[in-house]
Amino acid sequence: MGDPVPLRTPRLFLTVPGPDDVDAIFDACQDPLIQKYTTVPSPYTRDDAETFVGLVADWWDSGAEHVWAMRAGDELVGMVGLHRIKDGAAELGYWTAPAGRGQGYTTEAARAVVEFAFGPMRLERLEWHAVVGNTASARVAQKLGFQLEGTRRMGLAHHGAGGSHGRTDGWIAGLLSSDPRTESAWGL
Ligand SMILES: CC(C)(COP(=O)(O)OP(=O)(O)OC[C@H]1O[C@@H](n2cnc3c(N)ncnc32)[C@H](O)[C@@H]1OP(=O)(O)O)[C@@H](O)C(=O)NCCC(=O)NCCS
Repeated sequence: MGDPVPLRTPRLFLTVPGPDDVDAIFDACQDPLIQKYTTVPSPYTRDDAETFVGLVADWWDSGAEHVWAMRAGDELVGMVGLHRIKDGAAELGYWTAPAGRGQGYTTEAARAVVEFAFGPMRLERLEWHAVVGNTASARVAQKLGFQLEGTRRMGLAHHGAGGSHGRTDGWIAGLLSSDPRTESAWGL
């Protein structure tokens, strides 16, 4: 359905992750916070990274999901994506490798993805979901203009300690194409 669309920000280049990124993705996804707060497999193997880059190409092709690697020069600092693209809506997701955190990269990359979603893609609503307590992720979404809409009890599938699986409470926030892209109070 579509070719990957590269995006540029002041400091980052966002492009489709490929086979050359497998090592960096594998390394980053060993991070306990990425395993705890995202849906990546846990434990995370090199095969998982290889499978992921193959899937991303298919997803771009089908239009089901759009995933970009965030690159600062030659370094892959993280991943940002639009997931479950359907009926004018999608879910925004991101992770940043531990070494790249705290420099505003995620907010900068996600802002470009939001502009793309509401611009060329003409989506009407973006959703953000996070495990309750993931304040770093919440701060990014808040800065983008998302408004907190509530807590979904046991609303998320979740990796527990030691690779166990279960459900956990999840925050949900939304951003409409007509909303201001400025921070509002979340009262957390
Ligand atoms: C969430 C995550 C992507 C944030 O990445 P980042 O690149 O550090 O984010 P930014 O540098 O853009 O920071 C954005 C804001 O979050 C704040 N922030 C970063 N880490 C924080 C933390 N641990 N606690 C509270 N706020 C935090 C920053 O201070 C900044 O706010 P400010 O501008 O008011 O200072 C990163 O911590 C991560 O990959 N976590 C694990 C995976 C994950 O949780 N993904 C999201 C799943 S919903």
